[in-house]
Amino acid sequence: MKILLTGGAGYIGSHTFVALRQASFEPVILDTFANSHPAVVQRLETITGQPVLLERGDVLDTPWVESVLRQHQPVGVVHFAGDKAVGESVAQPLKYFHNNIGGAVSLLRAMTAVHADGTVPTAPTLVFSSSATVYGDPASVPITEDFPRSHTNPYGHSKLVIEDMLTAVRAANPAWRVGTLRYFNPVGAHPSGLIGEDPAGIPNNLMPFVAQVAVGQRPCLSVYGNDYPTPDGTGVRDYIHVVDLAAGHVAALQALLNRGESFTVNLGTGRGNSVLEVIKAFEAASGCPVPYQFAPRRAGDVAQCYADAALAKELLGWQAHLTLDQMCADTWRWQSNNPMGYRM
Ligand code: NAD
Ligand code: UD1
Repeated sequence: MKILLTGGAGYIGSHTFVALRQASFEPVILDTFANSHPAVVQRLETITGQPVLLERGDVLDTPWVESVLRQHQPVGVVHFAGDKAVGESVAQPLKYFHNNIGGAVSLLRAMTAVHADGTVPTAPTLVFSSSATVYGDPASVPITEDFPRSHTNPYGHSKLVIEDMLTAVRAANPAWRVGTLRYFNPVGAHPSGLIGEDPAGIPNNLMPFVAQVAVGQRPCLSVYGNDYPTPDGTGVRDYIHVVDLAAGHVAALQALLNRGESFTVNLGTGRGNSVLEVIKAFEAASGCPVPYQFAPRRAGDVAQCYADAALAKELLGWQAHLTLDQMCADTWRWQSNNPMGYRM
């Protein structure tokens, strides 16, 4: 059973590739490598012991995506492809509306075409990478899926629009089966140390920054704010191991294929950890100091954000198992084995 992974060469896509292989699916990667590196393909072949099916190209190219669907006849598609840097989205909003919203429109049109003419005989089945960013500044925690949605930047706006677009497509054609997954804060790496997060330039997110400080590439971490209404004053987030997150995609696809009902679920652990707790856990996992200094709050940040993860357990039989210590240990293995990421 083939599954098409748009953006499958990226951080979450590559880990999901491994999980799908382990669950006896046949994943096919569709990617431009705009924000990933072709070296990931060899690494995936080493981990899985099998050749990787790869279609190099742009999800914005609808006729080409149609031809890929016709060729591979996947029983499902996971749509990871897109841009994800919040700050860049504020500076270059059209890039985000074009690639994220335009990419989703293109994929949905291609899927509609091949299902309408019967080329792909199964019901259109899609898993979409949404984000906890759609909750904006939540009124309380933990966050359940029925919380109001809002956006504070063009990246978050693009996720909201795509969620709404999927609702409209399902309303127009109830045959569609759509699983919308709202990820909290994915971190960690595959335990092999062969694949992991490889941000270009200065990392925006906490865990890759901490890892680069621990390995000595950067002198010091700025902790954005120590006056939040949280136990130690620093921001609290729901960090989820990318291997658990990848397993969530397998569970989502199995639920869609077996039961045929659409859903929207949070993928998080249901626990929050502060920035200082992450630093301490990383120091313990790596044996290296992580020097830090307090800095002003980062614009747009919220004090606390963590999931109520009960619905994913109920609907998908999925829950996160890996601890913050394991997230740090696996990030450290990846970072110390690959200090330059995939660019060796
Ligand atoms: P990533 O950048 O590592 O992976 C995205 C992949 O998509 C890259 O390999 C990139 O080359 C590819 N891509 C981008 N535009 C493309 C296009 N037009 N055609 C084909 N390929 C294209 O990002 P990730 O962290 O793996 O995130 C995957 C998805 O999950 C994204 O949609 C992101 O918004 C969402 N998400 C990520 C996080 C996170 O913290 N990583 C959190 C919430 C949601
Ligand atoms: C960020 C994105 C969010 C996205 C999420 C995915 C912003 C404003 N939000 O969320 O849209 O869905 O990533 O993982 O970028 N921190 C520091 N120092 C740093 C970096 C971060 O103290 O150098 C703190 C932040 O203030 C926050 C926590 O660490 O309290 C986590 O930050 P980050 O990893 O960037 O994730 P989010 O802000 O949750």
